[in-house]
Amino acid sequence: MKGIILAGGKGTRLYPMTKVVSKQLLPLYDKPMIYYPLSVLLLAGIRDILIISTPEDTPSFKKLLGDGARLGVSLSYKVQENPNGLAEAFILGEDFIDGDNVCLILGDNVFYGQNLTRTLREARTMVESGDAGAVIFGYPVKDPRAFGVVEFDANGKVLSIEEKPSEPKSKYAVPGLYFYDSSVCEIAKNIKPSERGELEITAVNNEYLDNGKLMALPFDRGFAWLDTGTPEGMLQAAEFIEAMQVRQGFYISCIEEIAWRRGFITHEQLMSLGEELKMTEYGEYLLSLK
Ligand code: G1P
Repeated sequence: MKGIILAGGKGTRLYPMTKVVSKQLLPLYDKPMIYYPLSVLLLAGIRDILIISTPEDTPSFKKLLGDGARLGVSLSYKVQENPNGLAEAFILGEDFIDGDNVCLILGDNVFYGQNLTRTLREARTMVESGDAGAVIFGYPVKDPRAFGVVEFDANGKVLSIEEKPSEPKSKYAVPGLYFYDSSVCEIAKNIKPSERGELEITAVNNEYLDNGKLMALPFDRGFAWLDTGTPEGMLQAAEFIEAMQVRQGFYISCIEEIAWRRGFITHEQLMSLGEELKMTEYGEYLLSLK
């Protein structure tokens, strides 16, 4: 399975913070925001990853993450010239996907919780086995109107999915994490732009729904899907990450640690990554892992 991180957009809702730097490069506590979605793909066991960003920001992502060899993975890059919508990822990424299944994650989405790895594996298996054409997630929020909203039955079969409805049919918002079979590229090429002029991911999901192939898994009580859409949301996310890390001493979304625990790199390689950062707490943490 391939992975795509979509880290585009102009970040206008966070101006002036994001005027000259991509939102997904801003720090969330002690690491750049994109580390968080990248760690989710690594936890899902995905090692071939495409990062899509703007013409201005793509060079910075390359500078930050390189070709992925240091993490034992392959990272490649693609420019999205204009913010034409999430579903454009599958048109820009068609050659990269190359007929495989694919997981898309948005570059500003942060997930944390005990069941994360298990749920990711489950979603991946559902698509790889053909039990589902697409798997999305449902996360209960107080006010889901700012998101895609999904309604699903006890078996996870999706009954409806709507983009930013004024009267939501459920309390389950759809996070920016999606698993698809290889037909997603064809589907993305055939949807029409929405009223806001974007190729909506919800339109892609509705296509799977119409074919009876859309499943949803819940991220429920005790799970964190953190909002980074406003300065307040970013600060709260950073405080949450700091509180968890300081309390337990386990880092959240430490990509080097995950790469090592997954067996993508050796302990020796991990130690040399730690050495490079040993002037920081982050580096000390890497050096402490055994
Ligand atoms: C996008 C999707 C929406 C989803 C959200 C998650 O919204 O269109 O369905 O719930 O990401 O972050 P946007 O951020 O483009 O408004």
